[in-house]
Amino acid sequence: MGITRIQDLPAAVGAEVTVAGWLTGSRSSGKIAFLQLRDGSGFVQAVVSKQDVDEATFVAARALGQESALRLTGVVRTDARAPSGVELATRSLEVVHATSDYPITPKEHGVDFLADHRHLHLRHRVPWAILRVRDELERGVHDFFADHGFVRFDAPFFMPTAVEGTTNLFEIDLFDEGKAYLSQSGQLYAEAGAMALGAVYTMGPTFRAEKSKTRRHLLEFWMIEPEVAYLEHEGNVRLQVDLLSYLVARVLERRGRELEMLERDVAKLAPAAAGGYPVITYDRALEILAEAGSPIAWGDDFGAPHETILGEAFDRPVVIEHYPTSVKAFYMEPVPGDPSRVLCNDVIAPEGYGELIGGSQRIHDLDLLRRRIADHGLPEEAFSWYLDLRRFGSVPHSGFGIGLERTLAWITGVSHLREVIPFPRMLTRMFP
Ligand code: 4AD
Ligand code: MG
Repeated sequence: MGITRIQDLPAAVGAEVTVAGWLTGSRSSGKIAFLQLRDGSGFVQAVVSKQDVDEATFVAARALGQESALRLTGVVRTDARAPSGVELATRSLEVVHATSDYPITPKEHGVDFLADHRHLHLRHRVPWAILRVRDELERGVHDFFADHGFVRFDAPFFMPTAVEGTTNLFEIDLFDEGKAYLSQSGQLYAEAGAMALGAVYTMGPTFRAEKSKTRRHLLEFWMIEPEVAYLEHEGNVRLQVDLLSYLVARVLERRGRELEMLERDVAKLAPAAAGGYPVITYDRALEILAEAGSPIAWGDDFGAPHETILGEAFDRPVVIEHYPTSVKAFYMEPVPGDPSRVLCNDVIAPEGYGELIGGSQRIHDLDLLRRRIADHGLPEEAFSWYLDLRRFGSVPHSGFGIGLERTLAWITGVSHLREVIPFPRMLTRMFP
């Protein structure tokens, strides 16, 4: 007989099915045992009644340790108390791998213990729910861009140059080629892609040697970077709002059960799904910070506490535009008539989750870009190919980068980024 996935059991009430999975817990009395099963697709309880099975099956059922692997055959019946609405009345079971002394028990474990056992902890309900939301977000990204006529474009991960400043670069030794760096951003390559294909997006691991040990930073995270030829700043902001509101709405619609398991207050996400994000300038943001008693000087960048204040001032993500040129990357187009500010924006999440998106219109004038590369002390030879994009058919173009883990942490309501990636890479954690 074939295997039925637990997620499909509600449609099989009355049928005899076989489920292949693992035991997450059990309890029993003299005549009946309750086995909690998971199979990756969901969770279900199987009831084993002494009168319904042979003696050997009943003895085996009671003896199984947590995370034992088993195939269990039984009849699906409705159970109003079960989250899925069904349970299994067991007929027989086959032990695939009897397990004892599984280290993660139902008692509370510390954060470090669970992180050391991340390869096993992934099997438990909270990581399970988070990773299913992550999958939905990734699918949502691909569907959104496909529906909007974008082409997926894969940027390289070994880079000859820095993109986002030189302070957080991972350097690697490339034998005779000399030094190379792990990618901090695929943007410069996506710009070449946009001139070839019109509208592209990258999605891949991104590396930043962040010395700060905050809950918002990973050494390795996933970034999605769209880039569009002939798109200017205002259109770029609209694209960001459309993408983010689409993603939130999609997760609310398709992963409501997982958000419930995570005890996420979904009412707080509803405004973000509706769109209509406020757009304010950097200068206005300084006023909000001053009013909140945390002033910063014009020309300073926001730190995490400032982002938290700005995010909490609104019920949905806020777009902040026109930052001082001095705090942003070399490639950003100046605000027309005001070289002290650039046509860029960040998107800051509500509820203290900080920056989700950074984007800008890119400089398309060759001479200006060369001056900016020199101003930033960057080697022009390394950017010769990038400058070619300004020598041949140069047009205004824009794009942005959205951090997958930041977005996922906010949507799931999880406080630390290490919880939302299967195997986090941080200053304090490289194992497992
Ligand atoms: O603002 P950033 O540095 O922008 C860029 O890299 C641009 N080149 C993007 C572009 O225009 N194509 O990074 C973009 C986003 C941030 O808003 C944040 O969500 C995420 O990447 N991010 C991190 N996420 C986790 N850990 C880190 N260390 C991160 N650094 C940035
Ligand atoms: Mg940024």
